[in-house]
Amino acid sequence: MNTQASMHTQQAAHRVLVIALVATGFACAAPLTRTAAAQDADISEETVEYFRLNCTSCHTIGGGRLTGPDLKDVAERQSIEWLTTFIVDPKRVIDSGDADAQALFKEANGLYMPTLPGMTRQRAAALLELIAYESTKEESRFKGLQISDRPLTQHDIDRGQRLFEGTEAIASGAPSCLGCHTIDGTGGFGGGRLGPDLTDAFSRLEGRKALASWLAAPPGLTMQPVFKDRPIEGEEVLALVAYLKSRAEAGPPATKQGPLEFLIAGIAGVMGALVLFDLIWRRRFRAVRRPLVKGTTR
Ligand code: HEC
Ligand code: HEC
Repeated sequence: MNTQASMHTQQAAHRVLVIALVATGFACAAPLTRTAAAQDADISEETVEYFRLNCTSCHTIGGGRLTGPDLKDVAERQSIEWLTTFIVDPKRVIDSGDADAQALFKEANGLYMPTLPGMTRQRAAALLELIAYESTKEESRFKGLQISDRPLTQHDIDRGQRLFEGTEAIASGAPSCLGCHTIDGTGGFGGGRLGPDLTDAFSRLEGRKALASWLAAPPGLTMQPVFKDRPIEGEEVLALVAYLKSRAEAGPPATKQGPLEFLIAGIAGVMGALVLFDLIWRRRFRAVRRPLVKGTTR
C-alpha cells in the first residue's frame, strides 16, 4: 500500500516534469496551474498530458478551428457514444458513410483524423470528460498556442530552410526535417521518404495557425516520440511555417520548367508509387510498433 502510494507520487512528479519540458519553448500557461485544475475535476494528469501531446496539434477548446474543429462543447453536438467510437477509429466511421462524420470530413478538406497511439474506448471516454470540463471554463488552457502573429519575413524563410535542411540545428536537439521529408526542389532526391512530401503541407494543414500548432506538438506515431522531449521552440516554428508557406506559394517547379515537365512528371509518378509502398509498409510496421509506443506513452 505504502510503496504503491510513493510510486504513484513518483509517477506524478515524472509527469509534471514531462509536461514542464514540453511546455518549454512555447509560451503557455504555467504547468503548476494545470496540475491544480486537473485535480479539481478529478481528471488524471495522464489524460491532460495525453491530450496535450496528441490532440492540441489539430484541435483547440474554445480557440477556433485548426486542422480539426474546435472541440468546445462537442458533446452538445454529438452523443458520447458516437464521439467515443469516432475517436477510437475516425477513418472507419467516416468510411462507413455516417452523415455527420462525412460532413466533418468535408469541412476538413478530406483530411482523416488519425487513430492516435495507445487509443482505447476507455481513454477516449476520459478525454471526452476532460473536453467537457474544459468547455465549462471561460478560458480553457487548450485555447491554443501563444505563438506570435508578427509578419513573416524573408529572414524567417531563410532560417526555416536552414532548419529544414539541417544546416542550422534545432535548439532542442531534434533531428532536421530533411531526414524524413522531401520538399519540391530542396534536397531534390536527397530527402527522406519516411514522412510525406511537405510542399503543400501549409495549405493541407489549413494555414499558419494550424501548421504552427501542429509543429509545436507533432502528433503521429513517427514524429511524436522524436519531438515529445525535444520540442521545436516558438521562433523556430515560425521560421519553418514561413518556409513551408513560401514553398506552397511557389507551387511545383514542374510548371515553370517546360521541357523538363515530362521528366519530372515521370519521376513524380515513381515517387508516388514509392510513397504508396511506404504507406503500405508503414501500416504493417505500425501493427508491430503500436504495443511498443503504447508502452512508452503511458
Ligand atoms: C492530425 C490532426 C488531428 C489530430 C492529431 C486529432 N484530430 Fe480530432 N479531428 C481531426 C479532423 C480533421 C476532424 C474532422 C473529421 C475528419 O476529417 O477526420 C476531427 C474530429 C474530431 C472530433 C469530432 C468533432 C465534432 O465536431 O464532432 C473529435 C471529438 C475529435 N476529433 C477529438 C480528437 C481527440 C480527443 C484527439 C486526440 C486524441 C484528436 N481529435 C486528434 C483532426 C485531428
Ligand atoms: C523521424 C522522421 C521525421 C522527422 C525527423 C520529421 N518528420 Fe514530419 N512526419 C514524419 C512522418 C512519418 C509523418 C506522417 C505522420 C506520422 O506518421 O507521424 C510526418 C508528418 C509531417 C507533417 C504533416 C504532413 C501532412 O500533410 O499531414 C508535417 C507538417 C511535418 N511532418 C513537418 C515536419 C517538419 C517541419 C520537420 C522538421 C522540424 C519534421 N516533420 C521532421 C516523419 C518525420
